[in-house]
Amino acid sequence: MNMESACKEAIALDKQDELSAFRSKFISGDDKLIYLDGNSLGRLPAESKAILERSVTIEWGERLIRSWNEDWYTKNRELGDKIARIAGATEGEVIITDTTSVNLYKLAYAALKFKKDRTRVVTDELNFPSDLYILQGLVKEFGERYELIVVPSGDGMTIDTGVLKEMIDDNTALVSLSHVAFKSSFRYNMKEITSLVRAKEAMILWDLSHSIGAVPGELNESNADLAVGCTYKYLNGGPGSPAFMYVRKDIQDNLFSPIWGWFGEKNPFDFALKYRPGEGIRRFLTGTPPILSLKAIEPTLDMMNEIGMHRIRNKSVSQSEFILRLAEEFLRPLGFQPGSPMDPEMRGSHIALRHPEAYRICKALIDPYTGNAVVIPDFREPDNIRLGITPLYTTYTDLFMAVREIRDIVKDQLFLKYSSDREQVT
Ligand SMILES: Cc1ncc(COP(=O)(O)O)c(C=O)c1O
Repeated sequence: MNMESACKEAIALDKQDELSAFRSKFISGDDKLIYLDGNSLGRLPAESKAILERSVTIEWGERLIRSWNEDWYTKNRELGDKIARIAGATEGEVIITDTTSVNLYKLAYAALKFKKDRTRVVTDELNFPSDLYILQGLVKEFGERYELIVVPSGDGMTIDTGVLKEMIDDNTALVSLSHVAFKSSFRYNMKEITSLVRAKEAMILWDLSHSIGAVPGELNESNADLAVGCTYKYLNGGPGSPAFMYVRKDIQDNLFSPIWGWFGEKNPFDFALKYRPGEGIRRFLTGTPPILSLKAIEPTLDMMNEIGMHRIRNKSVSQSEFILRLAEEFLRPLGFQPGSPMDPEMRGSHIALRHPEAYRICKALIDPYTGNAVVIPDFREPDNIRLGITPLYTTYTDLFMAVREIRDIVKDQLFLKYSSDREQVT
């Protein structure tokens, strides 16, 4: 394969792409921008922009407080049900609220209270740091008898399921894992892990932030207990859009939120002086939802439910295989190493490439001195360039162009013109 044949192949694959029409449903300020960071902050759907404009102008501007009864009050449950379909869960099992970190705290706390005779919590070192901090804080709060086991990764990319299994014992209350690892894209087999956790009568809490909207959900199929996830990555909810949580129906009435806010009360507008937990998953709500951010999520949920997650996943795998082939051909000779597993069954929808100069290469891609195309990936310490594949709007040509730009930057040593000083947000 040479650059010319790779380019032709990309164009041919774009022509055959059955999801290509969805790209035009997203706002693109700059048609030439190659955006490969939808695994961090998704693009803006045109319909979200229209909804926000309508919500601000009419619902907030004109209808004011009447909008609560007209549309707003039940929105976090309605959209929760739409996420449930994407996550492989059932109506009434998912609700949108707060941030991923706060939801993780609430559910992990509830699990530790529920499994009160057990004192071990298990996670792994590929998990997102916020999740690790929340678990560290909880274990400290629960007292000296509690311990947090962080399963190491031998290769920095994957977790050996055998090693994880050995750590889950009869004293384990909770196993809290990211379904897809934020850095390497390593994906657990949800069914396998859930069943081994449940065989030990412990609870499983999945963080779906990097898998929701990227891989078909299996929460019910795998009989998972609890899950959380964010909506600003593949679900394109916008910066800081509220997160979601899932609690399996049959355990909802046995679990309690550590924060008894009024939105989680049985009927907030009774203004009862004594808290009564709300029905089902509603009891995990806390305060007033951020309506504007919440509403921006809906268009992507509708697109995904219309298309079906299996078709989205098929394109994601095909695109991942394509970019991995290009990387092998054009980038490995320049010192790049794969930072993600090669087996698609063990991956989410982003690809990490490792290079000692990853940070400066990213800077050169994002802010080229030359008139070259702008490519936006992201960088994760110490040496990962993450390339996010978002099948609703990523094209094969985007992937080809990104690899060509990376090759040129390294081949011509253009990255040397950039500082290694880290910006606040990478
Ligand atoms: C896997 C994972 N978990 C948790 C978080 C934190 O989410 P939040 O900022 O909504 O608390 C992130 C943020 O990117 C994440 O990627």
